[in-house]
Amino acid sequence: MMEAKVQEFLKTLQAAVSQLNLYPAHHPNSETALRRGWKATTELAAQDDDVVIGLKGYAFFLNGELLAYTSLTYANLYQDLSDREIEAITLAGETDRTDYANLVEFAAGHTDDLPGGGSIRLNESRLVDGDDDSAFADLRFSYSGVVGTLRTLDHRIAREGSFEMAPVMQAVEELIDQSLDASGAALLLSTVKSHDEYTFYHSVNTCLMAVATGQYLGLTQKDLIPIGAGAMLHDIGKVAVSPKTLNHPGRLDREQWKEITIHPQEGAQAIMAAGGPGHEVAATIALEHHARFDGLGYPRLGPDGHPHLASRLVAVSDVYDAVTTRRSYRRAETPHRALQILLQGAGGAFDPDIVRAFISMMGIFPPGSVLRLLSGELVVISHHQSDSPDLHGFLVRTAAGEDVEPEPVAVPEHQVGQQVLAESVGIEPAALLERAGVAEQVLASSLPKVDEGAIERSGVDEEALKDQAARSLSSIVDRD
Ligand SMILES: [Fe+2]
Repeated sequence: MMEAKVQEFLKTLQAAVSQLNLYPAHHPNSETALRRGWKATTELAAQDDDVVIGLKGYAFFLNGELLAYTSLTYANLYQDLSDREIEAITLAGETDRTDYANLVEFAAGHTDDLPGGGSIRLNESRLVDGDDDSAFADLRFSYSGVVGTLRTLDHRIAREGSFEMAPVMQAVEELIDQSLDASGAALLLSTVKSHDEYTFYHSVNTCLMAVATGQYLGLTQKDLIPIGAGAMLHDIGKVAVSPKTLNHPGRLDREQWKEITIHPQEGAQAIMAAGGPGHEVAATIALEHHARFDGLGYPRLGPDGHPHLASRLVAVSDVYDAVTTRRSYRRAETPHRALQILLQGAGGAFDPDIVRAFISMMGIFPPGSVLRLLSGELVVISHHQSDSPDLHGFLVRTAAGEDVEPEPVAVPEHQVGQQVLAESVGIEPAALLERAGVAEQVLASSLPKVDEGAIERSGVDEEALKDQAARSLSSIVDRD
């Protein structure tokens, strides 16, 4: 609740700073942005006597507590504020409108007079004492950097019809470098969801998982970089599809399907036109990510045509992330259910060897899974340990529904009652584990461990086979 108010404060601050960089302070656009920002600030300030937003190690803190998800979303604003050497913003009591305007002027670089003494003060508090210069923070920052690159690229393609490959490759390389050393943490980070910017976050998650699978299968970093770039850009052709069709809540008609099925070609063409190192593999992935292993799907490869290994690799991660995310036309499924859907499609939609590798790597309850134990307690799975048959995670909520400081637990599988959707119980797994300081422990488990027997244990159950919804689901993901 409080984090939502901080996000509103940051969002309106970002908007006000960019308006002031475009228009004079008394222009109606600037005045509207300042009014909105002031309102959000007043609402945030009303939450406590003193509200301190701290900035350190690429992260925002609220009264000393890390706001991991907010840090991810507002990485650009973080950069702008830290360029202005802002380390803390203190809201002391009721916010004065002029003080807010001064803050925006300072943040926009229009004045060098540091606001102080009033209802908004800069760099007075030092509530941030935790050390966040961690590898997980670096990874999270690269993640948001890549989301930012995709955002820019999307605008460029929409405006100019083309883009340059170099900045994409640079961002992807950095992310892959970091994730290869910490694939456990990368998998945890890939559970981050965004409904407003689905395509961007989905693309980065697909990249992280495809790269982790490739690494698990023994591919080298040299091979993984173009695969990561292809995963990142696989849906770039969607810029040619109208948002109305993309978000259409019900079934699509013929015309809408035609529009959707063109996005692989559009994407591949844009990547070929961009050129640069690794662009052929990336274009192949974009072209084939909806082509099924059995030659069906689109574009139709025919009974003798198999998609490229890189495309088959990306297709599995693509569907896994899509199925576990809520869309306007479909509910989200739990990670465990998504693995069952992959297994059902093995040999048909997907390469069975890659599905097997993916499930072994993820384990039957992938990192970030939220499990309700038979005792009623909620546990978030953090990582797998090959030397232990138990599930490793953190107890986060009691049977009585009370949130507790995350506490490490090892849970035998037979104590699991059911898997629940993180979103439905108001849990953001990556953010929660990072806030609890757990992410570093996850980093220590950097290499994905072989989960022997995971496939057998996640097997397609009787119920799933009978479930008509599951079968239609695999055709619904054709839209993603
Ligand atoms: Fe797609």
